[in-house]
Amino acid sequence: MLESDDQSPHARAAGTAQHLFLLGAGGDLACRMLFPSLFFLGLDGLLPEGVRLTGVSRTPEPSEAFRNRMAASLSQHPRTLANGDSKTALARFLERMDYVALDITDPESVRALGDLIAPGAAPLYYFATSPSLFGPACKALKAAGLATPNARIVLEKPLGRDLDSCRALHDMVGEAFSENQILRVDHYLGKETVQNLIALRFGNTLFEPLWNNLTIDHVQITIAETQAVGDRWPYYDEYGALRDMLQNHLLQLLCLVAMEPPSDLDPDAVRAEKVKVLRSLRPIGRDEAALDTVRGQYVAGIVEGRPMPGYVEERGAPTRAETFVAIRAHIDNWRWAGVPFYLRTGKNLQQRRTEIVIQFKSVPHSVFGREGSRDLTPNQLVIRLQPEEDISLLMMNKTQGLSRDGMRLGAVPLSLSGGGVHQPDRRIAYERLLLDALDGNSTHFVGRAEVEQAWAWVAGIADGWAEGGAPLRSYPAGSWGPSAAHALTEREGRHWNE
Ligand code: BG6
Repeated sequence: MLESDDQSPHARAAGTAQHLFLLGAGGDLACRMLFPSLFFLGLDGLLPEGVRLTGVSRTPEPSEAFRNRMAASLSQHPRTLANGDSKTALARFLERMDYVALDITDPESVRALGDLIAPGAAPLYYFATSPSLFGPACKALKAAGLATPNARIVLEKPLGRDLDSCRALHDMVGEAFSENQILRVDHYLGKETVQNLIALRFGNTLFEPLWNNLTIDHVQITIAETQAVGDRWPYYDEYGALRDMLQNHLLQLLCLVAMEPPSDLDPDAVRAEKVKVLRSLRPIGRDEAALDTVRGQYVAGIVEGRPMPGYVEERGAPTRAETFVAIRAHIDNWRWAGVPFYLRTGKNLQQRRTEIVIQFKSVPHSVFGREGSRDLTPNQLVIRLQPEEDISLLMMNKTQGLSRDGMRLGAVPLSLSGGGVHQPDRRIAYERLLLDALDGNSTHFVGRAEVEQAWAWVAGIADGWAEGGAPLRSYPAGSWGPSAAHALTEREGRHWNE
């Protein structure tokens, strides 16, 4: 049994977890994201002083060997290398850590975790495992007496593959843990610029009067990746871009853009507003799918100068899985009636770029004569998440100098975040989320109703596709997706920001 040496204000705060169990500690998510995030939190003095970290997985390995492996990998992380003062922090981090090998679906083995928890300490179980283990592991934790009222769990997508499987999963988990003990991660909500979007919308009076269908022409949300599906094809074959990216990340971004101001940042207040947006999404079924959705799969092409095989070659057999999806969505409420939300995401695209574009309407009348009027570009607010983080507002300005053509105008981007530069040492989105999870703050996590409502909307599209509503179109790797995705905007006189 480990002693709790924690006297920090963090640990004394109500709801702060004092023992984090990382289930699936040998997996990709834990090694690439979670352990580094925890280490950097420690490096910055943000981890609760006495919090214990236990890695759990099936592979037998002595704690010492596990710690050595962690030390080797963390010390080579670019952010560690950039920080001259990380040696002591790493040693302190490793002191907090141990490792146990067990089967998390077996109550008898799981009981061993209980022996590690100091009396009264609140455990946090982070499931970095396959979702197929969520239900059985929660059952085992309950049977082992570890689903105590002070315990919390963290789950990550995919939470089901459709509405029914999602509900079944929630019901199973719900038998051991109540809703306020469950934190569902969407790592996009941990990204700095996504948080900045909340500050921009609700920390300024400037935008709110303009944030509606009177002034905004349309909204675009793009998550474009240059990486291929690669060896993740078994997962992609089953989920495709619709379920992997749109059901969660794209819809979460849409909710943050479209929701009404919540009364405060209390998790329930924020979630209630997001659910209202999801409920207002106009259903897309078979008939609408043909007009409002595009599904694509990449064929061979060149990405960032490198020849890339098509998805079928990568995978070794023909498949109907989509690696690209674009959708024209409508939110049927007073604020957004008539404003299309264009959403798109894809693998092997021309550029890595994640951004939200708020496209304002043109001025109602131009006073600038023939030449000047040609220069007029409607205002645009671009919230860029990747590769660089920046928020910029495109404004019209008079170009300097004299001319006989009357006043000439130029579009000037104003950076609202002082950013736009590539920040190699920026935080991993999981740092924010892990910190919040340890502190028991669930504002940046997703509620059950949100996930299920998102599935309900996505199910309409998936069914529409299954009934032949939209053909699977090919696009060359390294392009911006099928030409039909351009037609989606262009037939209405709009175009993607590329
Ligand atoms: C994950 C998806 O949720 O998000 C991946 O499963 C995708 O397919 C990834 O590549 C993108 O995340 P990010 O933070 O790199 O944009």
